[in-house]
Amino acid sequence: MRIVVFGAAGSIGTAITAELIHRGHDVTGVTRSGRASVAGAHTTTGDAADPQAVALLASGADAVVSAIGPRHDGSEDPLILATTTRSLIDGVRAAGVTRLVAVGGAGSLLDATGAQHVDNPHFPEAVKPIALAHAATLDIYRDTHDLKWTYISPAASIEPGERTGQFRIGGDTLLTDKRGVSRITIPDYAIGLVDQIEKPTAIRTRITLAY
Ligand SMILES: NC(=O)c1ccc[n+]([C@@H]2O[C@H](COP(=O)([O-])OP(=O)(O)OC[C@H]3O[C@@H](n4cnc5c(N)ncnc54)[C@H](OP(=O)(O)O)[C@@H]3O)[C@@H](O)[C@H]2O)c1
Repeated sequence: MRIVVFGAAGSIGTAITAELIHRGHDVTGVTRSGRASVAGAHTTTGDAADPQAVALLASGADAVVSAIGPRHDGSEDPLILATTTRSLIDGVRAAGVTRLVAVGGAGSLLDATGAQHVDNPHFPEAVKPIALAHAATLDIYRDTHDLKWTYISPAASIEPGERTGQFRIGGDTLLTDKRGVSRITIPDYAIGLVDQIEKPTAIRTRITLAY
């Protein structure tokens, strides 16, 4: 398949690109800086916030992946993610591509009481703005009825680690292991995301991946 990955040089985008290359797909990785991602992927410069650029880059793709995130140095308001997501959706639509798979956030997942994880008093204050921005993008996806999107929330903790292929797929509820910990490695998350490109089981819905 021909896949265009926005944010391909990020921590998660790199693993997704590597997983796609590993499975023999033709991948174009896009970032604003044009930073190379993984050997075997085409690298190009582009801004997901520019719908015309997105349309040009996405044209002819079988699927588009969004692995974008605001800069970590505080130079960008996390809420930029919401406006950028609108532009990305507009560009993908203009390209005539219907499949869009997004790396989401865990903050909007529901805990056992039905409350959003981000509203838990123990939720780290420092990551609240980005968690709320991701919750806003989920609302944007949920209002998008003409594209086959999938929004994939990672577990609360997503870190580098082993590629095991052993994880669970959930819906709107935060998945935790026997110790009550919600976690997944980046390579396993990438497997679950690429599975949704090859054999979609969750169209126009949010899923989560965790152990
Ligand atoms: N548990 C959780 O909820 C959780 C945990 C970790 C990450 N996440 C989310 O997962 C996403 C990816 O995380 P990450 O750690 O991989 O982020 P990252 O390492 O900061 O990578 C983000 C990538 O997106 C690119 N990018 C940003 N804005 C762009 C734009 N407008 N157009 C094109 N490319 C753009 C960046 O490159 P340039 O700056 O060069 O464009 C970079 O390659 C983020 O949205 C993050 O918030 C969620």
